[in-house]
Amino acid sequence: MAVEQFPGEPISQTGRADDDPYAGTGLPALGFRNYWYPVMAAWRLGRKPKAVKVLGEDIVVFRDKGKLYALAERCPHRGARLSQGKCLYPGSGTISCPYHGWTFSGETGACVAKLMEGPEASAAREIAVKSYPVRELRGAVWVFVGDIEAPRLEDEVPEVLSATEDWHGFATWRTYRCNWRIMKDNLCHDMHAPFVHRNSPELMFQPVFPFASRLAAFPLEDDSGIGYVSKDGVPSADYPGLGTFPPKQETWYRFLKPTGRGKEIKAEDRAVVRYGVKYRQSSLMPGATFIGRPSGDYFVLRWVTPIDADSNFYYSWSLFRRQGWWRTLKQRLFWVCWLSWAHDWLFSDQDKRILEKVIPGKELHSRTDAGMIAWRRYAADHARRRAEGDAKPAETLRPPAAE
Ligand code: FES
Ligand SMILES: [Fe+2]
Repeated sequence: MAVEQFPGEPISQTGRADDDPYAGTGLPALGFRNYWYPVMAAWRLGRKPKAVKVLGEDIVVFRDKGKLYALAERCPHRGARLSQGKCLYPGSGTISCPYHGWTFSGETGACVAKLMEGPEASAAREIAVKSYPVRELRGAVWVFVGDIEAPRLEDEVPEVLSATEDWHGFATWRTYRCNWRIMKDNLCHDMHAPFVHRNSPELMFQPVFPFASRLAAFPLEDDSGIGYVSKDGVPSADYPGLGTFPPKQETWYRFLKPTGRGKEIKAEDRAVVRYGVKYRQSSLMPGATFIGRPSGDYFVLRWVTPIDADSNFYYSWSLFRRQGWWRTLKQRLFWVCWLSWAHDWLFSDQDKRILEKVIPGKELHSRTDAGMIAWRRYAADHARRRAEGDAKPAETLRPPAAE
């Protein structure tokens, strides 16, 4: 295995574009274009421009007088990185290339001056770099990557993410060195959790989650994704010739009662009545996962942003309904002292270790993969695609809802 010769080197999980082992899924190696993606925490973007890579595109994001801009990173003159340049004229909304000072409008991408050629430099405005729609929402910088008019970001995310006055939240983010599809497959109510996470600090002393359950997926009413329902799991089982799972030596310390994680949402629960969230877990376009709790007091949103064919950026929000300062304080402490490291770090690490070493190739699907298969089908069928030569707003390009 390559990792023996080159410890720490990532295994290329996609190979050449014409040799993509996941091509048959209909999910592109570089992610779905024509969607918004979170690309970095907003507080990390100070006075200096920052380079990000999204869906294989190199982008510079910068602020000028508080306003955000995103442009293609490569200067068309001789290829210098605009993220190494700076906003030389604060308030102008421009960025100047670090090499010969070509200066670009953050709004339109047009070259407004070639500083080293004098103010009379000809035809500067005929040169432009691509400009990207960019927004800040819930502490993250979001960029729209695509070829159509960007829809409103608030219409593209669950209500609880944008309703900052009713919800407070925390976010963590990490880079995974694996293709985004491998990452998203893992987040499709995949039946690995009772196995992989059974001894995570978060779940170690609880009974193992029910497994061997039946999973069904349903399209969401607003056509934003699919919701999962699972039924009939068992907490342990005997395997002839092997013994019991979980193995005997792992059962004596499971003395805690299970927490509410396993409960399905019922029609009368606040999650449904107030927020219209019917499913405990759903997969949303273009690669997000939304986890609801029946109480409607706590939701989790996880967004997978493809960086390139071999890495992705994983942004995860824990969102709590505001219920007075005392509850807010307790929720903050709970997240800082426990959830942030027990879940977002150690629990996720158990997946990360596996996903980053996956060897792509032919897959033999089984019952554990029902959620993933449903997601792949839905996503391949419902992705926004730009009709050839067409620049209509996204809504008009949406395929009809699933049956
Ligand atoms: S490379 Fe950018 S101005 Fe020359
Ligand atoms: Fe997991």
